[in-house]
Order: sequence, then structure tokens, then C-alpha cells
Amino acid sequence: MQKIIAILEGDGIGPEIVREAVKVLKAVEIKYNHKFTLNFAPFGAGAYFSEGSPFPEKTRHICDDADVIIKGPVGLAVDKMNLIPQEHRPEIGAILPLRKRYDTFANFRPVRLPKALAAFSPLREELIGDGLDILMIRELVGGIYFGKKTEGASTGMKYAEDECTYTEAQIRRVAMIAFEEARRRKEVLTNVHKANVLATSRFWNDIVEDVAKQFPDVTCNSILVDNAAFQLVKNPCQFNGVMLLENMQGDILTDQAGGLIGSLGLMPSACIGPEKSYVEPAHGSAPDIAGMNIANPYSMIGSIALMFDKCLNLQEEARNIWDAIFHVFGQGFITQDLVSEGYDKKKVLSTSAFGDMVVERIQG
Ligand code: NAD
Ligand code: IPM
Ligand code: MN
Repeated sequence: MQKIIAILEGDGIGPEIVREAVKVLKAVEIKYNHKFTLNFAPFGAGAYFSEGSPFPEKTRHICDDADVIIKGPVGLAVDKMNLIPQEHRPEIGAILPLRKRYDTFANFRPVRLPKALAAFSPLREELIGDGLDILMIRELVGGIYFGKKTEGASTGMKYAEDECTYTEAQIRRVAMIAFEEARRRKEVLTNVHKANVLATSRFWNDIVEDVAKQFPDVTCNSILVDNAAFQLVKNPCQFNGVMLLENMQGDILTDQAGGLIGSLGLMPSACIGPEKSYVEPAHGSAPDIAGMNIANPYSMIGSIALMFDKCLNLQEEARNIWDAIFHVFGQGFITQDLVSEGYDKKKVLSTSAFGDMVVERIQG
């Protein structure tokens, strides 16, 4: 297969983990006889400082011309971010415009922790049961993130406002994808909401219930988001299957899921659009550990696996990457973020050493 791939390294640990992901990509390219053209482009806070924009025109063109986009996390430490005007900060000026541009409405964030790796979780091992395998699907281009933002004053009182809107079409398409995944996995779907308070959540539930009628074979449970946050810690296995979440609630619960399995470094993601998709870790640029070669590249390498699976429809390649990652963990190797007391220091790998071991395994 021939593909053009845009690569946005991002900020902080971005370049370090993207480097490992590209190594894996190249190993897969050779093994399966593909031809990938990789076009690197500036994106994020660094791009603001070097190009004057966090999502420069030339990067837009490179992304437009690509079949798929690989994106590292963006953002810098607070003191550096404060030097950037609000509208050019990478969250508002780069990530959201990227999502909007390609309408990447379905954000797949798998939460996987096999039983054998239960010790990664801060929970007691028995709570991980036979392992965790939750596919969180987060709506990514609607809701409060994209509503009108206002700051002003009325009758002498200053205020700020974020509008939250969902259209029927926005809910229907992400619900369809979530039900299709649940059907494919032959598993339950848990719909998360806040319908006891929010009109958008009540509307969300109406549409989800309507979509559910087309999937009589899929069991659909509903849960309030606050209870879901509690249950995720108390009894996470009940959610094995698909969880469907709106944008903001999905943002929060997917980070919580990272905590549940031991690290945000274990959270890859794919952002699926109708024509173009991109992949990125669920976490940020981790300024606290940037440049130290200790970040966990799983989230970025796993995002490459998701790219093969969900964007390029190459499941064998995806499986090969997952197998390689879990083979490395299976030998007791981990990265710094997963270290617990008493862990054998010789088994703690740097970012690049982890990438090397995954590549070695893929090469066989
Ligand atoms: P963060 O996700 O960057 O980091 C939270 C914690 O998790 C830190 O302790 C960090 O060291 C750790 N961590 C994250 N990824 C890791 C990895 N791969 N390996 C090991 N440890 C890892 O959250 P933050 O510090 O609140 O945000 C930093 C910046 O990133 C902010 O500017 C934020 O807006 C931005 N951000 C960007 C994205 C994105 O690009 N999609 C996502 C989230 C946050
Ligand atoms: C994420 C991030 C982004 C979000 C921010 C940085 C805009 O937290 O991808 O989870 O809130 O969606
Ligand atoms: Mn987030």
C-alpha cells in the first residue's frame, strides 16, 4: 500500500515519542512491503515561536495532502505558554482547528490492561479481574468545546460563558460508530451522560436510544457520568466493552482511565473523520519530563497500531504492533512511569530503548 503521512511532532515529549513511533512505522513498512511518504510539519507551541502560528499555513497544506496524520502532543510549561496570546495557544489555535478541519468526530481511546500486567494499576490486583479492555469513544467536534465563548459584563457584573450545543446529526454519527464497534466486539455499550441536569444530555440519550433500535443484538446500559467516574475506580471490569461519551465528559474520564491502568503513557488514540483521520496520544506534552528520554512511547506507538487498524484498514499490521508491545511488557520491561516500589531497575527502559525492543520484535 502507498500512503502519504503527515507527521506533526508537537511539543515537550512529542518529538521523543514520535521518533519511536516512526521507527515502528518504518519497521512495519518494510515487513509488509508498503511505501509510506513521511512529511514532517511544525505544529503546536514550538510552531508558534518559529513560524508565528501554532498551525501554520504550510502545515495545513501538508495535512490536506496526506492520507492520514500522526500527531504528537502539544503545549509547553505554563511560564512559556503565558508568552503566547490566547488565540495562538496550541489547544485553541492548533488542536481544535485540526479536529474541526477534518471533522474528526469519533475519538477512539482504548483502555487496555491484561491481567498479567495488573500490577501497573494503582488498584488492588483482584479489581482488574481477567483484565481491562474498554474502548472509550469520545465525541470530538461538538459540545461545549466548540460552542460560542463570551466574556463580558452585564448590569455591572463581569461574566464568562461557554455554550454547549449538540445537533442530532452529531450525536447520531458517533453513536452509530460506537454501536458498530460494540457489535463487532460482541460486547455491551455503556452510554455516559448527565441527563439529570443537562438538556444536551437528555437529547443525547434520546438519539442514542433511537440508534440502539438498529442494534437489538447490542446490550446498551446508561450511567450518569459522576457515578461512572466512581464505578471506574470501584469496579472497572463492568465497563469492558464500549463506552460512549460526549466531548467534555470523555476528556475527563479518559484521563481517569489512564490513572486506572497506571499511566497516561498507556493511552493511545485515533480521531476518526468522514474523509481524513489522525492519531495522537490521549495525554499532553508532559513538560515535567520532556527531553529526559524517559517518557513512555506506548501511547504514540499504540496510536500507530490504531492508525493501521482504524484508518488504513490493515489489521494484521496493527496486531503485529500490539503483540510486539505486549511482548516487551511480558518480559518484565517497563518505562519509568510504571515503576513501583521494589521494581528491578535493570528492567526500566528509556523511551528509545522501549522503541528499539518493539522494533526488534516486529522484525522477528
Ligand atoms: P500531561 O498529560 O502532559 O501530563 C500529565 C502527567 O502525566 C504528567 O505527570 C506527565 O509527566 C505524565 N505523562 C503524560 N504522558 C506521559 C508519557 N507518555 N509517559 C510518561 N508520563 C506521561 O498533562 P498536563 O501537564 O496537564 O498538560 C501539559 C500540556 O499538554 C498542556 O499545555 C495541555 O493543554 C497539553 N495537552 C495537549 C494534548 C494534545 O496535544 N492532544 C492533550 C492533553 C494536554
Ligand atoms: C485531549 C486534550 C485536549 C482536549 C486539549 C489539549 C484541547 O486534553 O486531547 O484530551 O481537551 O480535548
Ligand atoms: Mn484531555
